[in-house]
Amino acid sequence: MTEQQFIPQPYTNSVENGSFTWSSPSNIALVKYWGKKKDQIPENPSISFTLDHCKTTTILSFSKKENQDSFSFEVFLDGEKKDDFKPKIETFFKRIEVYLPFLKTYHFKIETSNTFPHSSGIASSASGMSALALCLMSMEKELVLNSALSKVEGGKENFEDFFTQKASFLARLGSGSACRSLEGDLVVWGEHENVVGSSDLFGVKYPFEVHQNFKNYHDTILLVDKGEKQVSSTVGHNLMHGHAFAGERFKQARTNLSHLINVLKEGDLDAFIALVESEALTLHAMMMTSMPYFILMKPNTLEIINKIWAYRQESGSKVCFTLDAGANVHVLYPEKESGKVLEFIKNELVGYCQNGHYISDKIGFGAKLINN
Ligand code: DP6
Repeated sequence: MTEQQFIPQPYTNSVENGSFTWSSPSNIALVKYWGKKKDQIPENPSISFTLDHCKTTTILSFSKKENQDSFSFEVFLDGEKKDDFKPKIETFFKRIEVYLPFLKTYHFKIETSNTFPHSSGIASSASGMSALALCLMSMEKELVLNSALSKVEGGKENFEDFFTQKASFLARLGSGSACRSLEGDLVVWGEHENVVGSSDLFGVKYPFEVHQNFKNYHDTILLVDKGEKQVSSTVGHNLMHGHAFAGERFKQARTNLSHLINVLKEGDLDAFIALVESEALTLHAMMMTSMPYFILMKPNTLEIINKIWAYRQESGSKVCFTLDAGANVHVLYPEKESGKVLEFIKNELVGYCQNGHYISDKIGFGAKLINN
């Protein structure tokens, strides 16, 4: 697949107005994407668990307009107009216009809401950008309907695959990790020699066997710091350019993904823990060793990590943690331990969260069309 294949033939259908609603989840990376080239082409492949509960629902309403010189849209979060979201969406529209040439011919109303609080320190870009990309793809589907569908080999079924792939491709142009949010329960993004069909351009559903141990895995997100991100993802990714350890890190991520394929197949929870925690700490180590340097953990992040390690040692539990580029902690654990670990979280970890806030989530299966 190359970018060219996502440029559509001239549309044959005409649509005056309408609306689509999609909900799309967040995801948590096990092998991290950190470092990118232009337009979110990743420096290394990554893999994530798709989440279930943390998601964005977006209603995209559209109507044909006269003036076709510029983009025209308004954005609402929980019913409130959000002009400060506009520059990010304008940039997104500019990047994807060549792949969705109808964008300037409509006025859009984008109404979005998240299941998690906007100021929770949980990035809404993955769920938000993927939900918007899917709404736009539903629109394109209307515009190519019938005539083009019959030209796609295999007709409608193959078009469904293409639909998801192009939606992931578009979501990536909004925010890299967003391309891993469309499907579940595991998604790989970035070309890797051992993953057939993997691509730098879009995420693909993990194609290999996954042991029962990893089914229904839990992720309880401890909100240690709900403030604005100290370093934006884009600034963070850019710090990998010229970073002294970048080359080794990109190699390590590849190797880790190769190992993880075996770990997931064998159900090896100890190896999973070692790999996932090391990935999280390596991401933070990259930030600490860049110039300028950043410490994104807070004292309570470390308190939580130490408590998890102590609990694991004394109980033999297989609970572990991972981190995003921030202070919040994702506590990962197998379904069969869920009762005990949740008890441990409530008794020993929640005290380190800002206002005692945490979110109970688990592995999910991707985005859903709500209506059209
Ligand atoms: C630490 O996808 O938010 O969560 O492509 O600049 O939008 P942009 O970055 P983003 O980066 C996510 C980085 C991460 C690791 C990961 O999700 O793989």
